[in-house]
Amino acid sequence: MSNVQGKVVIVTGASSGIGEAAARLFGKAGAKVVIAARRVERLEAVAKGIEEAGTGAEALVIAADLSKLADIQSLVERTLGRFGRIDVLVNNAGFGRLNFLDRLDPIEDIEPQYRVNVLGYVLTTRLVLPMMMKQKSGHIINVASMAGKVATPTYTIYASCKFAIDGFSQALRREAAPWGIKVSVIYPTAVVTEFNQHARIQRKTKYTTPRSLLLTADDVGRAVLSLAARDRSAEVLMPGVNFFTKHINQSLPWLVDWLTIRNFTIPEREEELREAGLL
Ligand SMILES: NC(=O)c1ccc[n+]([C@@H]2O[C@H](COP(=O)([O-])OP(=O)(O)OC[C@H]3O[C@@H](n4cnc5c(N)ncnc54)[C@H](OP(=O)(O)O)[C@@H]3O)[C@@H](O)[C@H]2O)c1
Repeated sequence: MSNVQGKVVIVTGASSGIGEAAARLFGKAGAKVVIAARRVERLEAVAKGIEEAGTGAEALVIAADLSKLADIQSLVERTLGRFGRIDVLVNNAGFGRLNFLDRLDPIEDIEPQYRVNVLGYVLTTRLVLPMMMKQKSGHIINVASMAGKVATPTYTIYASCKFAIDGFSQALRREAAPWGIKVSVIYPTAVVTEFNQHARIQRKTKYTTPRSLLLTADDVGRAVLSLAARDRSAEVLMPGVNFFTKHINQSLPWLVDWLTIRNFTIPEREEELREAGLL
């Protein structure tokens, strides 16, 4: 991974899960890693691991709430103040609140998701872009989700955030290419992290991702590092079998509608549907 040695890499949401795994891997590869999130004590532990990796890696901890523009500005300014350039931006900080739309609270669940998962990515990128344009190089890696390709019930807000990142990234890739700036997106399915602890999932059907398709934070972290180091793919679907999921959803949407409504929406909301006289 010598391509990453000495590179300045910002990883948002590096206090746990995918971001933490990616930050540690960048440290092992000798990068200068700027790690941002709200839980500073967790970031300090990640920074210690990076600096003790024995690769010449450096870590800069920045406390930032990615839903706040002032914190994003400070993240970028402090990175440039310390390192003078930015080679890789990994937009990763995010969360989901997964329930039917009418059960999601506008203030608690809906607005914060758009602020962190969409505006957080957009505004961080916008502030990093001028330096990358000046350098005539850079790589923006956006951690989206398979929910940004295939939207299922209880994912209205989360999926629309990730679809937004899909469109944002596609347009930006075509804007930024002349400056030598790459834009890549990773679309994982379920990853074993703290994500579910924040998702407030309440399901009668208990449907979950089959074990064989579950990813670890390290799996996704390695994909992030690989993109930064050598793989210049625009899109990485994880696991690879999701290539078929995406195409089935695109070519046979009525089939996916029928399957999800019959097997998920109706069983989940059976009582309410009966009370409303719809069953
Ligand atoms: N786990 C999955 O199944 C899965 C699947 C596909 C995509 N993803 C995506 O992967 C990304 C990382 O999630 P994860 O699975 O690694 O979950 P995680 O372990 O819960 O990590 C989420 C990270 O985002 C940070 N974060 C959340 N809100 C923030 C805010 N307002 N300001 C700054 N940082 C914030 C958290 O840090 P603090 O709490 O310390 O601020 C934490 O470091 C997310 O974008 C998620 O949508 C996850």
